[in-house]
Amino acid sequence: MVLLEVKDVHFSYDGKPVLKGVSLQVSGGEILGLIGPNGAGKSTLIKLIAGILAPQEGAIEILGRPLKSWRRQDLAKVVALVPQGAYIPPTFTVWESVLLGRTPYLHFPGIASKKDIEAVQRAMEWAEVGHLQDKFVGELSGGERQRVILARALAQEPKVLLLDEPTAHLDIHHQVSTLKLIQGLARAEGLAVLAVLHDLNLASSFSDRIALLVEGKVLAQGSPEEVIVADRLHRAYGSGILVMSRPDNSTRPIVLPDLRIS
Ligand SMILES: Nc1ncnc2c1ncn2[C@@H]1O[C@H](COP(=O)(O)OP(=O)(O)OP(=O)(O)O)[C@@H](O)[C@H]1O
Ligand SMILES: [Mg+2]
Repeated sequence: MVLLEVKDVHFSYDGKPVLKGVSLQVSGGEILGLIGPNGAGKSTLIKLIAGILAPQEGAIEILGRPLKSWRRQDLAKVVALVPQGAYIPPTFTVWESVLLGRTPYLHFPGIASKKDIEAVQRAMEWAEVGHLQDKFVGELSGGERQRVILARALAQEPKVLLLDEPTAHLDIHHQVSTLKLIQGLARAEGLAVLAVLHDLNLASSFSDRIALLVEGKVLAQGSPEEVIVADRLHRAYGSGILVMSRPDNSTRPIVLPDLRIS
C-alpha cells in the first residue's frame, strides 16, 4: 500500500526554483533511497513531506490523505523526521531526548504513560543506545548522538520515516547496523522509508528502489541496478565514478572513484 505520494511538486525559495515537478511513491515495507548531488533539492523535498515547507504546485499525500488536511499533532504521529544535522540539547539525557519523540502522544505535557516509556525503551534498543540512556547528550560522540536522534524518531512509532543522511558520522559497523535496523523495521512494521543517502554504496546496498534527484528533477527512479548506472551517475555527478558489480552474488552495483580521471 502506498503510504507516501509526491505528485508533480514544484517548490521555489524566494522565486528561485529548487524542485521542478517531482513525483514519487513509497509503499509500506519499502525503503526508497534518495540520492543526488549537493544542492539538488533532497532536503527541501524531505521538508515539504514533513510539512515544514509547503509546495507552490503539486500535492503530497500521506496515507492517502492530502498533507494539507492533516492536523499537526496527528501528522506527528504518522510521519517522523530525522533531519540533516539535527540538534538535540546537550543538557538532556539520552532517555529524555528519546522521550521527546513521544510529545505528540502525551496527554499532559511532561507526563509519560507506561506505553510511552515502553516505546522509548524499544526505540533505544533498536537504535543501540540503551546503554547510554543516563548519559547527557553533550557527552556523546557524533555517531552516538546520531543514533539518539534516530531513536527519538522511532519512539514516535511512525508509519512514514523520513531520514536525511541518517548515516553521516557513523562508522561502518553502525552505518550497516542502522540501515539493517531500518530495513528490518520497514519489513516488520510496514514502515514506508524515504532516506537521503550520500553514500551510493549504502544506497545501492539497502534501498529497495532509488530515486536520483538532479537540479530539482528526478533523473531516474527504479531498482539499484536500474539507477546506479555509469552514464546516469556521470550526468548527475560528473565523470570520475566507476560502477562495478559486487564480488558476492548480489546484483546491487558498487561505486568507486575512478582514479584514471584527474
Ligand atoms: N532556506 C533556504 N533559502 C533559500 N535557498 C535555500 C534554502 N535552503 C536551501 N536552499 C537552496 O536550495 C537548493 C537545494 O537545497 P537542499 O538543501 O534541498 O539540497 P540538498 O540536495 O539537500 O543538498 P545537500 O546534499 O548538500 O544536503 C540549494 O541551492 C540551496 O542553496
Ligand atoms: Mg541536504
